[in-house]
Amino acid sequence: MNTTINAAASGQFEIGGDLTVNRLGFGAMRITGNGIWGEPEDRAEALRTLKRLPELGINFIDTADSYGPEVSENLIHEALHPYKDMVIATKGGLTRHGPDIWPPLGRPEYLRQCVLMSLRRLGVERIDLWQLHRIDAKVPRDEQFDAIKQMQQEGLIRHVGLSEVNVEEIQAAQKFFKVATVQNMYNLVTRQSEEVLDYCASNNIGFIPWFPLASGNLAQPGTLLDTIAKKNDTTPSGVALAWILMRSPVMLPIPGTGKVKHLEENVAAVNIKLSDEDFKQLDLQGRKEQKS
Ligand SMILES: NC(=O)c1ccc[n+]([C@@H]2O[C@H](COP(=O)([O-])OP(=O)(O)OC[C@H]3O[C@@H](n4cnc5c(N)ncnc54)[C@H](OP(=O)(O)O)[C@@H]3O)[C@@H](O)[C@H]2O)c1
Repeated sequence: MNTTINAAASGQFEIGGDLTVNRLGFGAMRITGNGIWGEPEDRAEALRTLKRLPELGINFIDTADSYGPEVSENLIHEALHPYKDMVIATKGGLTRHGPDIWPPLGRPEYLRQCVLMSLRRLGVERIDLWQLHRIDAKVPRDEQFDAIKQMQQEGLIRHVGLSEVNVEEIQAAQKFFKVATVQNMYNLVTRQSEEVLDYCASNNIGFIPWFPLASGNLAQPGTLLDTIAKKNDTTPSGVALAWILMRSPVMLPIPGTGKVKHLEENVAAVNIKLSDEDFKQLDLQGRKEQKS
């Protein structure tokens, strides 16, 4: 594998205006067991994947207390503590009752426990970026935002992010704290968050697209995506990632894997330069695919 690949080529973004990261990050959900439950099948490979991150210039990792649960944060600690210049973003506000089961819980005392336990597992005194995994519909949202505001004022959290929110919810949260990032599902063929992305771009809020590698039916043999991938000696998911990075300067994709080989392939996408015409055509096809 080409050793000159480095996530720095994806460009930089300042989270909250003062934490500079390379835009291509890493999602640490896949270093757990099936259903994001328990230890990963190949623990040694998961640790190798994490240790490879700084060598590839990745200095932004996204995790959550609920990945495993606890497993992802613990592995990150084991592989990378004390993190040097890396930003470890985590999330809280979801409970776990088994594989693929994630009921939200936004009671202030639980959110506080989430933060305190993530601090302990990650071995830090302050979390650089703490994200509310979901707003809990059963708890008044202002109570959730107020609890987060207090933890930020106490210095337990440096910056705050939200996940799976619309523009109105971001604005409601902004009455309590500065929203540094928003993490919504977004990829070439999942475009429901275009309005949120535009809002983030105009307010310098980092937009973290999760499930960034997907490209649906656009990846069929003989399609434009397939042709561009072949032209660039990459895979359709590599092109999907290059397209996402080009879509907006506030975009911070976090492709996830538990395998070194896949990690290296994903980082190599930073060297793919799409022409304006290819970008536009992929954009149009992605929007159409979403509707069909
Ligand atoms: N906020 C939220 O609600 C939310 C929800 C879901 C995820 N997330 C975050 O977003 C991150 C990314 O989301 P995601 O994991 O759903 O989507 P993704 O990164 O787009 O896709 C990950 C999947 O693709 C595979 N993969 C990765 N690189 C590959 C490659 N080069 N070739 C072939 N397969 C490859 C992985 O399996 P292998 O391990 O086998 O490579 C895994 O099954 C997560 O890690 C997590 O941090 C957030």
